[in-house]
Amino acid sequence: MGRDPDLGRRDFLNTATTLVAGAGLAAAAWPFISSMNPSSNVLARASTEVDLSNITPAEVRTVAWQGKPVFVFHRTLEQIAAMAQSLGSDKDPEPDAERVQRPEWLVVIGLCTHLGCVPNRKPHGWDCPCHGSVYDNSGRILKGPAPRNLDLPPYEFLAADRLLIKKA
Ligand code: FES
Repeated sequence: MGRDPDLGRRDFLNTATTLVAGAGLAAAAWPFISSMNPSSNVLARASTEVDLSNITPAEVRTVAWQGKPVFVFHRTLEQIAAMAQSLGSDKDPEPDAERVQRPEWLVVIGLCTHLGCVPNRKPHGWDCPCHGSVYDNSGRILKGPAPRNLDLPPYEFLAADRLLIKKA
């Protein structure tokens, strides 16, 4: 008795559908990485200059730096005061003052330190859509599987309203 040819076709379609769905998920998790694909040499030399003059208080601007998203957050006085009152969580305690050069500007790499998804902006900070890690308005990990606070890129202020995110 021979195998039903429809069964083979169905197996193929099931496998193809699973592969396409998996690829779509991966692309959604890496929107910045997938949209830029320069050589690692070019990436290592790339710096990004940001005009701060049009980022209003409480606004977060996402800029691309070396193929990664960087969140440039113009914090309000209330947000600065709230972040100064805690060290984040026991997982990676860190004073807010050690995470910023100027209290009103938080500059962090916008990739979850668990598996690298891009966290979504929330009033308390950021939530990672992949496995639920929660970060505060200093980019410090509060809960979830992420092992540490959002990473800080190397940067300097060129002027009151000009930021340079430097080559790594
Ligand atoms: S990648 Fe963010 S919680 Fe897993």
